[in-house]
Amino acid sequence: MIIAVDGPTASGKGTIAKALAAHFGLPHLDTGLLYRAVGRQVVLNGGDPDSEDDAAAATRFPDSLLADPELRSETCGGLASRVSIHPAVRAALLERQRAFARQPGGAVLDGRDIGTVIAPEAGVKLFVTASVEARAQRRYLEMRERGIDATLETIAADLAARDERDRNRSQAPLRAADDAVLLDTSRLDRDAAIAAAIALVDRALG
Ligand code: DC
Repeated sequence: MIIAVDGPTASGKGTIAKALAAHFGLPHLDTGLLYRAVGRQVVLNGGDPDSEDDAAAATRFPDSLLADPELRSETCGGLASRVSIHPAVRAALLERQRAFARQPGGAVLDGRDIGTVIAPEAGVKLFVTASVEARAQRRYLEMRERGIDATLETIAADLAARDERDRNRSQAPLRAADDAVLLDTSRLDRDAAIAAAIALVDRALG
């Protein structure tokens, strides 16, 4: 069984995907991490994230980079969003994600284009959303916990800019697959969002 979990930044899709994987005993791939690694590698190479050639070269990052905590930073999130618009980058990461999705027994993948491009055959597709205000508030609390200084306004502006770029790129833009089930987490805490997602998957599986 393949479970596709797509949605914008800070919607809760990562937390939900991880919890679904644990609940259904499936391996999980956070595909955003691959784009973050490309963004980080471009910088390590001294390249330009807006250059398709530089970004494509950075897709040959070493696997060890995936364990770098720096990948979780807002800076890497922004770089990932920029490198992810290049068709050559998306093409280079495609097979790795498809192979993960199609492993025997199935998998849970979260990202932006899992239900539409990577695994259109997925048995269950969730599209997780939340208002910009709710997502900015979550990110703000998360960053404060990690001791990072930021204002709610700058976080909200940054989220909106990333949404805009992810939704409007020509290749594999962020959008819900026609057969995806929507889950709005704006008014749900972590546990309620996970419970709702498990219930939706159970229902989709009949
Ligand atoms: O989910 P995330 O915040 O880690 O993703 C970072 C960026 O990577 C996101 O802004 C767009 C890109 N991305 C993508 O284009 N396709 C995916 N399947 C996952 C992430």
